[in-house]
Amino acid sequence: MSKESIEVYKEFETDIIPPSWKDRIWDKKDFKEWYESTVKDKKAKEEWWEKRANEIFWFKKWNKVLDDSNPPFYRWFVGGETNLAYLATDWQIAQGRKNKLALIWEGEPWDEALQQPKEVRKFTYYDIHRISNVISYALKEKLKVKKGEILTFYLPMIPELPFYMLAAQRLGAKHSIVYSGFSADALATRAIDGGARIIVTADGFYRRGRIISLKPIVDEAVKICAQNGLKIEKVIVIKRTGQDIPWNNETDVWHHEFIKDVPQNVHILVEKCGSEDFSYILYTSGTTAAPKGAQHSIGGYAVALYTTMKLIFDVREDDIYWCTADIGWVTGHSYIVYGPLMAGLTSIMYEGAPDCPGPDRWWNIIQRYGVTIFYTTPTAIRMLMKFPEELVRKYDLSTVRICHSVGEPINPEAFKWYYKNIGREDIVASSTWWMTETGQMLTGHFPGLGKIFPLKPGTNGYPIPGVTMEVLDDDGNPCKPGVRGYLAITSPWPGMLMTLYKSPQRYIDVYWSRFKGKMYFYTGDFAIKDQDGYIWVLGRADDVLKVAGHRIGTAEIESAMIKHPAVAESACVGKEDPVKGQTPFIFTVLKQGYSPSQELANELKMHLRNTIGPLVASDTTIAFVDSVPKTRSGKIMRRLLKAIIAGATLGDVSTLEDGVAVEEAKKAYESVKAALERK
Ligand code: WTA
Repeated sequence: MSKESIEVYKEFETDIIPPSWKDRIWDKKDFKEWYESTVKDKKAKEEWWEKRANEIFWFKKWNKVLDDSNPPFYRWFVGGETNLAYLATDWQIAQGRKNKLALIWEGEPWDEALQQPKEVRKFTYYDIHRISNVISYALKEKLKVKKGEILTFYLPMIPELPFYMLAAQRLGAKHSIVYSGFSADALATRAIDGGARIIVTADGFYRRGRIISLKPIVDEAVKICAQNGLKIEKVIVIKRTGQDIPWNNETDVWHHEFIKDVPQNVHILVEKCGSEDFSYILYTSGTTAAPKGAQHSIGGYAVALYTTMKLIFDVREDDIYWCTADIGWVTGHSYIVYGPLMAGLTSIMYEGAPDCPGPDRWWNIIQRYGVTIFYTTPTAIRMLMKFPEELVRKYDLSTVRICHSVGEPINPEAFKWYYKNIGREDIVASSTWWMTETGQMLTGHFPGLGKIFPLKPGTNGYPIPGVTMEVLDDDGNPCKPGVRGYLAITSPWPGMLMTLYKSPQRYIDVYWSRFKGKMYFYTGDFAIKDQDGYIWVLGRADDVLKVAGHRIGTAEIESAMIKHPAVAESACVGKEDPVKGQTPFIFTVLKQGYSPSQELANELKMHLRNTIGPLVASDTTIAFVDSVPKTRSGKIMRRLLKAIIAGATLGDVSTLEDGVAVEEAKKAYESVKAALERK
């Protein structure tokens, strides 16, 4: 760390290389007061965030920390100017990290004979700076990409994805990344909403030993865009697998051809972006079929990431950091790309599946690179804990000093397994809670916190300093300790989304209108605050599923189902799953002339794969029923359906739905249950 940042962060400094949780406890006597002072009042909070903002580079400093004159359109570090690409590379080089390894990428294919990955690519900060400048130049000169344009990226886990992200940021352009597990339809919907002119993709990638093609999906999406009046002018294709792919001479260009004649030492002057300008949009699921484009800022977002990297990951100069997420989701945006680069870390990026060639691939990676900070998902942990512990113990994982999880609630068993096998029961570990919309981690245990808030398996810990969160009842009043309520963020935070892209009213309606008379952010999660003040997020309170940590709306699934000619109606609810957390369970009513069969169920799953993507197709249950029970006002009785698949008894379900007569609910229960048993 630079000298300056050590000084500012002296509150967080512990031993130089502290080996265990016990040694990582702050000695600060007034720690609790200090912690509370950061959330005490508006002024204290702003002071805290302003201190953090002073740690990163700005072309121009802000004239106001927080503009809250037009809630909920809060603006952070107003008047400031910076740039995410500059922070990620130029600023690192200026701090002496020119030749430091920034990224170690490992492809999935494994060489059995040599017992090593077939491909490893390593990039220093200087390499990334150079390559992203070359791409910026090509985008600017050849395709006339300008400040403000949104580029759509549909890419797997290859280094070119961060390079293109940084190239866009350099120009003040924005990105909209679509997870490579989404279908052509989903890609097209997002490209159309963002008004894409350029899509960057790859021929394919490796996953669990197979090549997955991407280019045909993009071609299909380009067609759908055209049918909807959007012309995609260019598709840039990165050659990853070298397989044969369909080609359109008019639109397609290989990435290597695109940059071939650009001088390798080209330097693009970085765009000085307003702190309140936006850096990217990332679509996420909600309770309606249309995905929401969460629009993130530049200055506030940068401060949020830099702070949380230091606070929660406690980063040090010699760390080897590995976040196993996919860059197509927010975790990858914030904590594979921008956060770790801004913090000057060496990161691992892995292309493939955790169980390829065997279920010890991850432990092998941790050992080979001496990973010190590890960030993964509960689903992955639950999947890997099914294998004998010897598979983990075979490896030396003693370098790991922090391991966190994210994306879904972690059950105490999974946490204990993680803490024992990866954390040796002796390091900092926690379940960090946050969302696409929050941009940054907002809760978690971090080094030093254990002194007053000891670790509890399964909890999300405490909000980080400078963040205020509450568990509220329907009227917006705090719930008693231990009572379930809705998780709300009660004051603005720097990493927050600025709005929903092109939908400011929807932004207000979805997030800021839940608690009458209070300008609180509604997260959509159920949570409990226990008597010690710990937050326990229990899961979604709305019709959003978390399937293996992937966020998907039941409305999206239902609207995809209805597009199939056999489907009259459907109702999707989440079914508890011991590994994936939840899987979609779809009550399906067929049109006349169609009858239930295994073939039709398979066809419907294939249809979901084509309309949404592989991420929902596997482990989906299609259950044929004669009708979907509804309330008199036409709302699907979802809670009743959930109770049925959870195996609840009639007695438990009769009062589940508001406004539904007990007799009516009982009838619905019996008829759905009978239909399930019949089929
Ligand atoms: C859930 C992922 C419990 C939660 C970063 C939230 C969690 C949704 C946790 C956001 C956690 C995320 N414990 N639940 N540590 N982290 N969630 O937008 O339901 O993909 O609302 O962002 O994931 O999902 P998203």
